[in-house]
Amino acid sequence: MSLLKQPIVKHLSAPLVWGFALATVCAADDLIVADFEGADFGKWKATGEAFGSGPAKGALDGQMKVDGFSGNGFVNGFHGADGSHGRLTSPDFKIERKHLNFLIGGGGFAGETCVNLKVGTNVVRTATGKNVRDGGSERLDWESWDVSDLAGKTVSLEIVDSRKGTWGHINVDQIVQSDTPAAIELKQEFTVNQRYLIWPVSLDTKLKKRFFMTLDGEKEPFAFYDICLTNNPDFWVFTDLANFQGRKLTVTGKIPGNLADAWKKVVISATYPGEEQTYSEALRPQYHFTSRRGWLNDPNGLVWKDGEWHLFYQHNPYNHGWDNMTWGHATSPDLFHWKERPPGLFPDAEGVMFSGSAVVAPKGSTAFPINGEDTLVLAYTAHGRLSYVPGQESVQCIATTDDGGKTFTKFKNNPVIPHAVNENRDPKVMWHAKTKKWVLNLYYDGNDYGIYTSPDMVKWTKTCDYKIPNEGECPDMFELPVDGDAKNTRWVVWGANGKYMLGSFDGKEFKAESGPHRHYFGSAYAGQSYDNAPGGRRVHIGWMRDTGAGLQGAPFNLQMTLPMDFTLKTGAEGLRLWAEPSEEVAKLRENTKEWKNLTVSPGDTDPLSEVTGGQFEVEAVIDANSQASEFGFNVFNNHPLVWKKDDQTFTGAEGKQAPVDGKIHIRLFVDTVSIEVFVNGTYTSRYFRQMAGGKPVRIVNAGGPVKFDSLKVHSLRSVWKK
Ligand code: FRU
Repeated sequence: MSLLKQPIVKHLSAPLVWGFALATVCAADDLIVADFEGADFGKWKATGEAFGSGPAKGALDGQMKVDGFSGNGFVNGFHGADGSHGRLTSPDFKIERKHLNFLIGGGGFAGETCVNLKVGTNVVRTATGKNVRDGGSERLDWESWDVSDLAGKTVSLEIVDSRKGTWGHINVDQIVQSDTPAAIELKQEFTVNQRYLIWPVSLDTKLKKRFFMTLDGEKEPFAFYDICLTNNPDFWVFTDLANFQGRKLTVTGKIPGNLADAWKKVVISATYPGEEQTYSEALRPQYHFTSRRGWLNDPNGLVWKDGEWHLFYQHNPYNHGWDNMTWGHATSPDLFHWKERPPGLFPDAEGVMFSGSAVVAPKGSTAFPINGEDTLVLAYTAHGRLSYVPGQESVQCIATTDDGGKTFTKFKNNPVIPHAVNENRDPKVMWHAKTKKWVLNLYYDGNDYGIYTSPDMVKWTKTCDYKIPNEGECPDMFELPVDGDAKNTRWVVWGANGKYMLGSFDGKEFKAESGPHRHYFGSAYAGQSYDNAPGGRRVHIGWMRDTGAGLQGAPFNLQMTLPMDFTLKTGAEGLRLWAEPSEEVAKLRENTKEWKNLTVSPGDTDPLSEVTGGQFEVEAVIDANSQASEFGFNVFNNHPLVWKKDDQTFTGAEGKQAPVDGKIHIRLFVDTVSIEVFVNGTYTSRYFRQMAGGKPVRIVNAGGPVKFDSLKVHSLRSVWKK
């Protein structure tokens, strides 16, 4: 097949309302220079091996999938893989339209993997593919040169592969002269006088285009984003500009010509389409943190300061899936009523902003100056491999604030810890009072973690390595009293799956005494605890990753776990972390029903049949010696959560969940799309869908009566409704 593309013809005609025909301006039809649909290169001259003897029909041996080409054939420089060279030269032709459009992919090396437009022997335009390092994509994308200044000139094209090694090849197709550019170079300045820059986006990530954002004409962009701009939005997203009011924002990028109309809809606005439904969408959790738009993963920078709980988080503000890692930011007076702030850290030349932590640094404790008595400092991983500046690795960096946590400035001497290994990441910083040093836990690779210390948060010295078997990512480290005894403490080191070791820490070295133990099960992942929490509390929030039902169909994706408070308790299995939902949840309760010393036998009327609604908490203390062989609850008809007497297991949690003082303590929380259960201090969670007309919750008592010391059920109020 050949000229599959309809010529792009733009007829700009004026209506005949005045009874005479106004001049009709008619753009000329496109002229195909080459579509590479034949068996050979026709009049193009090939030298070297890289391009073979004719157009390819797809990927060659050893090449990743190639797509984005037009029709069946295209120029593929991967003959002889990345080791070969070649040159393909067109016959002369005349410039007869304003633009030269073509598809290009492959290596991004100027002069070496490129297409050149020549007048005589002079190269007057040149373009390369995008890739310069391992990974990337063989996809061909539109490129467009404005050649109006060359009108009438005789020119030729050459496709060059003179590079060996990674991405030492170039792919080209569908070279067309046209009066309409196939790709539009954007450079638009916006005066920021409203909160948002709004974008219509598609869920189809193949449509990703890269945009750079600069403020007040500065040279370096403060952010870059891959956004799936579209004419047919699945939903609208926004750039939150609340911190940039009164400034000039310039957006640059390159979009396909057919997105000219979509780009016109990217405007400064006081609201974003769909804002009026935000927090009342069908799938919106009513008492868990979600972002207004886009994707979230790990909580980052959890820190309490001046009455506010800060929640930063891994965020893609522009689509439903993981991408564009940005530190989203929200604050709350009570861990439940969150107010979303503009992002704290943006992906930029350093890389995308991976997980990290925050501390309150007092004056004198840092090598950099601090305004006032103390300040928030963020520690984060700049994931350099995903920067637009090639050749960078994953490094550890810091950022500070001069306005009480509204905006953050990246430290000018970043990184503070250079690259050590692979994708080393997720710095968790704390102050170690005894040694008067900052301590930073870092994830390396596999099950490996390391500890660094610093007198000033800038000079870091590695003091030890440790492992958490079968664990990885997102370290946390904290000290807790054993059974409430402040004089007898243990240190906990923690990884993303909620596996932890217990031991001692002298300010330099962590020595494990027991573990790994596991606290989390189900979908919880990558949590961390609050720094500087009042009253010595160890408050933790995790991310609920997608383990099933997810949130397809919503303009936002995924939620955080409930906030929970950790303590250390000695139980049947020894010393373990014990979590209770943070006490602030009590403020959401309404319509509490309570029973004491209640025995429910199979066939009895279920006292929970009175429960209505989809947001509630059940608190139960159950006698482990109840006659029932399995007992617990069933949520919306088909989500049983039961403790089994014979092996002492609880649905969804691995291993034994032994009774404590002969009791099973259950705290069950149901929200729009999530079920979370605390069973004797461990935590499990999952996403689910509430069955329309289903029974919100029922008691399970298989094989005999179940005896509750106490049973309470509370409806929970939405944190979003006034
Ligand atoms: C954990 C994690 C971190 C990383 C972040 C990237 O979920 O993989 O290790 O910093 O997510 O978003």
